[in-house]
Amino acid sequence: MDRQTPGGPPLTYLDHAASAPMRDEVVEAMAPFASGVFGHPSGQHRQARAARQALEDARDTIAELLGAAPREVVFTSGGTEADNLAVLGVLGAAVRRRSGDATAVVSSSVEHAAVLEACRVASARLGVVHERVGVDSQGLFDLARLEQALEDLGGDVALVTVMLANNEVGTVQPLGDVVALTRSLAPQAVVHTDAVQAAAWLDVAQAAPGVDLVSVSAHKLGGPKGAGALVVGEGTEIEPLFVGGGQERERRSGTHDVAGAVGLATALAAAAREREAESARVGALRDRLADGLLHAVPSVIEAAARELVLPGHCHLCFSGVDREELVVLLDEAGVCVSAGAACASGALEPSHVLAAMGVPAASARGSIRFSLGHTTAAEDVERVLAVVPEAVARLRG
Ligand SMILES: Cc1ncc(COP(=O)(O)O)c(C=O)c1O
Repeated sequence: MDRQTPGGPPLTYLDHAASAPMRDEVVEAMAPFASGVFGHPSGQHRQARAARQALEDARDTIAELLGAAPREVVFTSGGTEADNLAVLGVLGAAVRRRSGDATAVVSSSVEHAAVLEACRVASARLGVVHERVGVDSQGLFDLARLEQALEDLGGDVALVTVMLANNEVGTVQPLGDVVALTRSLAPQAVVHTDAVQAAAWLDVAQAAPGVDLVSVSAHKLGGPKGAGALVVGEGTEIEPLFVGGGQERERRSGTHDVAGAVGLATALAAAAREREAESARVGALRDRLADGLLHAVPSVIEAAARELVLPGHCHLCFSGVDREELVVLLDEAGVCVSAGAACASGALEPSHVLAAMGVPAASARGSIRFSLGHTTAAEDVERVLAVVPEAVARLRG
């Protein structure tokens, strides 16, 4: 993507996993809701009906693309709320239902903070036992450990939550196996997957067959920030986080963000339409980038094997380099990348994902995520290949 930063170098944006630029068709689809169509979708008049129609059309599209029924789609304010609703909603309902009996949640150790923090809060407020299952050196979920955890905790397990693809390194998890193991060893438990990163690249219904709950977020797909959805399978008991007007069949009160819902549906539809071609195109660009940097820069480690990760992810550890300093140098050259999960203050936290994979702290210190996406062109990769080796050499001094 060759966009000009005002007064600066041409912009090379390889941070799609943080937030992808909005697609033109999404902006167009959302535009009417910024002016002409402003009614409250729960109302009775023509303005309200127009808004409601758009909302329900968006719901139908999202349901179809995620392999769900429209009534199973709950609109949220993004991936974080979807994850919170899945974890706290299911566990809240389970604790109430089980009145006094022990309740447990099993997650992977590499979940996004939106899941891990929700599990922590469930432990602190509801007394839920939280069991974390680790990953191997590629970031792949440990199914043998899951089996052990389900055997140990047995009937106490109310929820198993494993992301479909990791946001930092991009590793895709074997959700079909997670579901099968859970059904056989803890049939009372429900399975949630955070598909926030995966939805841009994978057919979620195919990659995570039989899961009960799925989180997605629009801004990772070329949609707007602040819009997402949680699919809640029919019969899955869930307590709302927001109460009030009873929207979303009592599962999420609050006036709907109609434009956001339309944006999410349009972005998801575009991603699905382009999936096959884009996976091949972007995957080839990613390979060129990774091979080029591994060749041009000494002492670089690729965090996970390429055949295991999403096509847009390239996570490299540059030894002897401080990742924050490298991000700043690259930014000065007009290259936007990410140095791992930043908290709201913008400060970098040590990566729990790389730690779980056993990456030594010295390598993790120099880890950079290049994430390619629908706006990435060959020139972007060539520019990064021209800039990074020099920047790394400068920092290594
Ligand atoms: C895997 C994963 N889950 C959840 C989230 C949170 O989504 P949102 O930014 O829409 O709140 C993110 C965003 O970085 C993510 O990558």
